[in-house]
Amino acid sequence: MLQIYSKVEKILFFLVSYFLVSVYSQSQGRIVGGGNVQINSYAFTALISDHIKNTICSGTLVSPNAVITAAHCLYNTSAKNLGIQISGYSIKNATKFTASSTVIHKFYDPDSQMNDIGIIILSQPSSIEPARISSKIITDNMNVKALGWGTRSNTELVPAKILQEVDLVTAPAEQCKTVYPMFEGNGVGLQICTGNTPGKDTCLGDSGGPLVIYDDDQWKLIGQTSFGAWPDGSKTIGVCGSNDVFGFYTYIYRYVDFISTVTNITGDAFF
Ligand SMILES: *[C@@H]1O[C@H](CO)[C@@H](O)[C@H](O)[C@H]1NC(C)=O
Ligand SMILES: *[C@@H]1O[C@H](CO)[C@@H](O)[C@H](O)[C@H]1NC(C)=O
Ligand SMILES: *[C@@H]1O[C@H](CO)[C@@H](O)[C@H](O)[C@H]1NC(C)=O
Repeated sequence: MLQIYSKVEKILFFLVSYFLVSVYSQSQGRIVGGGNVQINSYAFTALISDHIKNTICSGTLVSPNAVITAAHCLYNTSAKNLGIQISGYSIKNATKFTASSTVIHKFYDPDSQMNDIGIIILSQPSSIEPARISSKIITDNMNVKALGWGTRSNTELVPAKILQEVDLVTAPAEQCKTVYPMFEGNGVGLQICTGNTPGKDTCLGDSGGPLVIYDDDQWKLIGQTSFGAWPDGSKTIGVCGSNDVFGFYTYIYRYVDFISTVTNITGDAFF
């Protein structure tokens, strides 16, 4: 039995909603062990609210009308239930969108979380500069950065007011396989694995949010938050940022053809 937990955040919608953002409670760090973004360089980062499931996820604008996110954020819901806010810094001045359709990758497996990617087509195109996808080879022990609007713990039921960032490091495949045997290796398979940064992690509400590296003078997309996994029999019960928890991210470079097919945009345009 896999011990994995998704990073969707269940929120209290009577306190916080897409239409009522002014009542967010004071937030500290959301991503675990990170902090507010220091620079406004991630304008492509989306907060995705589901008004029926009362959950939030994060996402990335990759073309004027397409936001990619985790498939598990789009599973069992429909486009009309979603509100999308895009901002690289504060949720207060985010640009709001509605969704016209959603597409989940046809090989998404809810049990293993393989191919955890889906696309939201926005009702109106955005003028915000989309993220570029990095084609750099991903290796072990690489410095990466995760971004998200998520929570710091299960008890904080509101999204972050300021976009959160945390510095992470990709972990060797043999370590990642101990908690998730399907992992094939960084830069090799369909996922990226991070770990060995105790206290630093993505958490609830960060699902679908960008994992980026500094490449060619800008922050480019390499992955998106999928789930955390921890050792069998471990006392840890999947608490974000625990020493023995590894983070798994969908490796976006592998899905350019999928995104291209759904958006009708040539693959080259994403790099
Ligand atoms: C999805 O919806 C179906 C039918 O409403 C339900 O049986 C199933 O439990 C749901 N799955 C998840 C993961 O929510
Ligand atoms: C949003 O607000 C922040 C500061 O509160 C500012 O730095 C940024 O430029 C604003 N962005 C937009 C799109 O207005
Ligand atoms: C892509 O093209 C197909 C076929 O012409 C069309 O049905 C679909 O709506 C298009 N998708 C987008 C996102 O424009």
